[in-house]
Amino acid sequence: MGLVAAACFAEIGHQVISIDNDQEKIAMLNRGEVPIHEEFLPELLARHSGKDLTFSTDLPQAVRQSQAVFIAVGTPSTEHGDADLSYVEQVSREVASVIDDYKIVVEKSTVPVFTSNWVRRVMLLDGAGADSFDVASNPEFLREGTAVGDFLYPDRIVVGADTERCASLLRQIYEPLTSGAYYKGKNIIPNTTGAPIPPPIIVTSTKSAELIKHASNAFLATKISFINAVANICEAVGADIKEVCEGIGTDSRIGRRFLNPGIGYGGSCFPKDLKAFSSVARETGYEFRLLQEVMSINAEQRARFLRKVRSALWTLKGKKLAVLGLAFKGGTDDIRESPALEIVKSLLKEGCEIRAYDPAAAERAAEVLPSQGISYSKSAYEAATGADALLILTDWPEFAKLDLPKLKAALTYPIVVDGRNLHDPADMAANGFIYSSVGRADVQALTRPLQKNGKLAAATTGKAE
Ligand code: UGA
Repeated sequence: MGLVAAACFAEIGHQVISIDNDQEKIAMLNRGEVPIHEEFLPELLARHSGKDLTFSTDLPQAVRQSQAVFIAVGTPSTEHGDADLSYVEQVSREVASVIDDYKIVVEKSTVPVFTSNWVRRVMLLDGAGADSFDVASNPEFLREGTAVGDFLYPDRIVVGADTERCASLLRQIYEPLTSGAYYKGKNIIPNTTGAPIPPPIIVTSTKSAELIKHASNAFLATKISFINAVANICEAVGADIKEVCEGIGTDSRIGRRFLNPGIGYGGSCFPKDLKAFSSVARETGYEFRLLQEVMSINAEQRARFLRKVRSALWTLKGKKLAVLGLAFKGGTDDIRESPALEIVKSLLKEGCEIRAYDPAAAERAAEVLPSQGISYSKSAYEAATGADALLILTDWPEFAKLDLPKLKAALTYPIVVDGRNLHDPADMAANGFIYSSVGRADVQALTRPLQKNGKLAAATTGKAE
């Protein structure tokens, strides 16, 4: 998020110094290498690096040269579930020690309510003059994979500031977007989000802005758990979750987005932020039980998927499985809290032999997955060759466009368990597959006898029609 924000601030016309204490990371960026898989980031870095975007480890010098200091350090979960704010504290102290004239210190990292008060307090204790700075909250709503588009074409910009001087500087920073000036430029990054142009800016108190960030992520995760729960009922009664989603999502009060059922949400944000928000609520004396339920539905969704695999394959020990997708969602190489990895680990424990393919995340996954029982393929078809079944765990667009006859020919048995509902059940049946997905009836080809007797006996039970 820090790198994307830095590149996008340069793109809208600012002079940006991007600081990290990881020398290797900074050296890599100075060599022109792009450390993460993110659409349009290579273009922005090529356009601005070494000019209006520089990289350095020298925090004091960067702070002295800047009017606004954005803090984008990590806020991981502690073992108790609350956010570890020690990196925010450390960097605030370092900034305090070099402040000479008025600057704003802006929280970009996701932080609990009251963090701005703490930042102000430690900065005062570390010698910054009371009038020499303001602390603001300017949460990001970027999604990984589409982060550049989300920054430049946001639904809204939220600015939490407790003084007019601070709010006015933040308004100026975002002015190229809010005035629409950026969108009239040449060679701009195209609008892939469909958000309104120009975006509205919402100015609130810092506390409200901090809460807006946590509440937004908690609401989106609630939407996902809600639809996963409805999908489970669809499976029990033979209804189709896709039809149900269309029926509910077209109500503009509900909306169609973030209503896709699957194997549960993952990533570096929702799991961490739900725990942190729940913990913040508890500290204020409110037990946010709804969030506890959202988290437990999410965990249960992975267990349900494993049961589906078992019911498609009967026994698991020694089965050869092709796995498509290791990243926590499509379009990224991020594997943090990836539901796909958890499922792969469970299958390896059951004694399955896994051949995995992910367009971007395989290298990272290989660093954290056990080395025994798993190999990595260069394509979906290579992973499928000779496999007893194929599992789809990440919603990469290319997995929705597979050549079905080619896939069927590669697999030993035509069994597909789709945790992301990327395929149409009728189409899968017409192509000769036994297909199981989320919130929809299992299907199997009706036109031909099941192959290899016995092996598929379990797959024909359950809700197959
Ligand atoms: C999320 C939010 O969407 C961003 O607005 C926010 O800025 C970001 O967290 C953050 O706090 O930094 P991100 O974690 O990149 O962004 O990914 P999402 O697209 O939100 O997906 C999160 C998880 O939910 C993924 O595992 C995804 O597969 C899953 N998901 C998403 C579903 O299962 N169903 C859906 O309909 C949507």
